[in-house]
Amino acid sequence: MKLLITGGCGFIGSNFLRYLLKKYPDYKIFNLDKLTYAGNLENLSEVEKNPNYKFIQGDICNSQLVNQILAEKIGCIINFAAESHVDRSLYDPVVFVQSNLVGAQVLLQSALQHKVSLFLQISTDEVYGPVLGNQKFNEKDSLNPSSPYAASKASADLLALSYFKSFNLPLIIVRPTNNFGPYQFPEKLIPLFISNALEDKSLPIYGDGLYVRDWLYVQDHCEVLDLILQKGKTGEIYNISSHNEKTNLEITDLILQALGKPKNLIKHVPDRPAHDRRYALDSSKLEKELGWKPKFSFEKALQETIEWYQRNRNWWERVKSGEYQKYYEKHYAYLKK
Ligand code: NAD
Ligand code: DAU
Repeated sequence: MKLLITGGCGFIGSNFLRYLLKKYPDYKIFNLDKLTYAGNLENLSEVEKNPNYKFIQGDICNSQLVNQILAEKIGCIINFAAESHVDRSLYDPVVFVQSNLVGAQVLLQSALQHKVSLFLQISTDEVYGPVLGNQKFNEKDSLNPSSPYAASKASADLLALSYFKSFNLPLIIVRPTNNFGPYQFPEKLIPLFISNALEDKSLPIYGDGLYVRDWLYVQDHCEVLDLILQKGKTGEIYNISSHNEKTNLEITDLILQALGKPKNLIKHVPDRPAHDRRYALDSSKLEKELGWKPKFSFEKALQETIEWYQRNRNWWERVKSGEYQKYYEKHYAYLKK
């Protein structure tokens, strides 16, 4: 089986790549990544010499390059590549539309042309916008994105569905909740707060800190994506939730307690514009139709994550300082020749 993973040098993509190469030693995996600020080759250092793994630096918007890769008889595309940080989308929406929507269109078109057997689009729970009261969104609910990030992802979902309806492109869309775990870029809540607390720096809580996110351990996410690749139905959307709704202050308290750090590190700062109050997904379709259950308890997964950031201080210090961007020059210089 030959797969193309896009955005494989980011947080979820790199976890999934390592997961697949370990579980399926006969898969041949191509990783197309532009290496934006969020793409880090160090995340994949343990697999870079695997003969079944090939890294290609490039943009998913480059149709010539995408067509060239797909000509290798790729069976399946898994599209993780995206600008993923909501706050950044408030400052520079253009690149979000470019990578998240135009890039998805290029991949869909090439997938059609090369007759790939499956296109898996990694979407997000943010496309539904905030939930009201005790409501949970299911896959049939309408889209109501708040940020340019969420709007670009929602637009890509609609476009992807149109490729299924209009051209029978075999595709599946997944909408996972907030992920956490090893190798997450320390701009996102959990890794930012763990690393700041380890440095005795303040933890900037937006607004009152009572915003609710539903947390999914990246290892559970990898397993369910694998299950969906094997058993998912084309033309379908699957919400992915492991039902761990927490306020940001609850998450912050758990991190401070685990690290033995004082609560006075918490600093309330001005709120994010259009900050969605709560996300909550009904993922019973996935649970009933594919029999999925997460393996990790939230507490165990958060503990493992905190310990990973304690053990891998070198990794996040290099990321925070920008040093990690030199890895390409040192290890992949031959690609430039
Ligand atoms: P990330 O920001 O850590 O990584 C994104 C990767 O995509 C980087 O390696 C970057 O270099 C690459 N990339 C960006 N633009 C590209 C382009 N034009 N061409 C090629 N590569 C490009 O993101 P992540 O947190 O791993 O998220 C992966 C996917 O999952 C995204 O599509 C995101 O919308 C979705 N998602 C993320 C979460 C989460 O909590 N992190 C939750 C739900 C869905
Ligand atoms: O819901 C899925 C989405 O989760 C993904 O689609 C996005 O790619 C991913 O970035 C994430 O978006 P969020 O905006 O929910 O994640 P973030 O870690 O940025 O913020 C989580 C919550 O914490 C949110 O309510 C904002 C708050 N926050 C965040 C940061 C970075 C703070 O209070 N302070 C902070 O410094």
